[in-house]
Amino acid sequence: MRIERNSVEKNCLVSYDEVDLSLIDKLIEKYSHVKGNVIPVLQGIQNIYGYLPGNALKKASEELKINLNDLFGVATFYAQFRLKPVGKHIIKVCHGTACHVQNAKKITETLMMELKVKDGETTDDRLFTLESVACLGCCSLAPVMMIGEETYGKLTGDKAVKIIRDIRKSES
Ligand code: FES
Repeated sequence: MRIERNSVEKNCLVSYDEVDLSLIDKLIEKYSHVKGNVIPVLQGIQNIYGYLPGNALKKASEELKINLNDLFGVATFYAQFRLKPVGKHIIKVCHGTACHVQNAKKITETLMMELKVKDGETTDDRLFTLESVACLGCCSLAPVMMIGEETYGKLTGDKAVKIIRDIRKSES
């Protein structure tokens, strides 16, 4: 057991934030006798916290008697699972073909500089998470990004930065 824990804890992909672990009690109870419960348990934890906190994974592992490394392995295999907390606003920059040829790379690079994060990371203030995604389905507007439900098309780096700054201003 000790070895399993160490191997996961050393993995810096996991966040060990202080979270209210009692929030997953009902979930654990619900799936305690269900076979093939790994994915629904992970989905349930993520629905509760918005990501998979390391401490919640540990608790689920211990109480459901699922090997922690197995839980961690599934969590890292599927793109739907997040091991780090996300920002209040998730910026999805499209890198589908149409956006790619319209220089989506530049949009992401500009936002990385503005937000001081890498692709996939969250700002220190947890206001923004920057993500590259596949086609968002509005290729005629390329290059495109989405923030929440809002779509922003025909972007330039400058426009993208202005949008981010406006959101930041509205949050302060
Ligand atoms: S390729 Fe970007 S919206 Fe389709």
